[in-house]
Amino acid sequence: MTEKKRILSGMRPTGPLHLGNLHGALANWVEMQDQYDCFFFIADWHAMTSDYEDTGPISGYIRDMIIDWLSAGLSPDKSTLFVQSHIKEHTELFLILSMITPVPWLERNPTFKEQIVQLSNKDLSTFGFLGYPVLQAADIIMYKAYGVPVGVDQVPHVEITREIARRFNYFYGEVFPEPKSILTKTPKILGIDRRKMSKSYDNAIYFSNSPDDISTKVAKMLTDPQRARKSDPGNPDICNVFEFHKLYSDSKTIDRINKECRIAEIGCVECKQIMAQYLIKALEPMREKREYYEARPQLIDDIIAEGCDKARRVARQTMAEVRVAIKI
Ligand code: TRP
Ligand code: SF4
Repeated sequence: MTEKKRILSGMRPTGPLHLGNLHGALANWVEMQDQYDCFFFIADWHAMTSDYEDTGPISGYIRDMIIDWLSAGLSPDKSTLFVQSHIKEHTELFLILSMITPVPWLERNPTFKEQIVQLSNKDLSTFGFLGYPVLQAADIIMYKAYGVPVGVDQVPHVEITREIARRFNYFYGEVFPEPKSILTKTPKILGIDRRKMSKSYDNAIYFSNSPDDISTKVAKMLTDPQRARKSDPGNPDICNVFEFHKLYSDSKTIDRINKECRIAEIGCVECKQIMAQYLIKALEPMREKREYYEARPQLIDDIIAEGCDKARRVARQTMAEVRVAIKI
């Protein structure tokens, strides 16, 4: 049997997961579980790089995130699920990589420049925030990952990781493979206000929302902006509600709406009600799994501990090789 290739990816625990996260990352991770040797982790140190003033909520977000992952279909039997800060080796490798990473590589990182502008309410002129990609490089090469499933926004970070790995190998000998980005295909579902779905815009539908919450949010969704009255023909191609139909409704319904919307035979109110029903039904299994796990806190602790043990074994092995290579 040929060994499965290893992939690794992480998420920052900054709040509950929404449908944008599901289709932008998690659904893809779930699918990759059979094909790859998967390492998925919660990047709590990375959360601290921007939320260092108020770290109180992070531990709760970590548990919620594990529950969101399990409800969406990540399985501790197939994948190694762990928490970054529980594996002390990440900080050690981060330190060592920071010795060899030129500061200009970090200063020209597009994500860094963007975030500084976007999160202008936070003081991000810290050493740790500048070093964000160095920590991410440590996460990735620690497990000698072949690939990193990410969205386009993370590609520059994987690129810096490759450069850091190459530089390490050049100075100290070949220890690390250079990881590839595995780009996630993402359907273009937007938030209920048609902006990118995001916790900070308050426009997201969460896995953990109740059926009533979902109905209320769907009813508020913006549709084809050209369609003011029910008697106006609409255009599903530019309607976010229709994007949701394409993901959640059956093909007969999708075809019918695609037709009837264009000739003003169906109104948006009805169209949304139909979509909400499908969405609620699609999320039902996740809701049931969530209840199961929420009622079993010990099980969650055990899953985290077991995943961390597996990750730690790999991390220790890598650090042993690193220590030999750097002769310290
Ligand atoms: N920076 C990633 C994000 O914000 C999270 C992350 C941290 C990560 N370490 C990683 C992703 C390693 C992939 C691999 O989404
Ligand atoms: Fe969008 Fe449906 Fe309204 Fe057409 S009928 S514009 S698809 S919400």
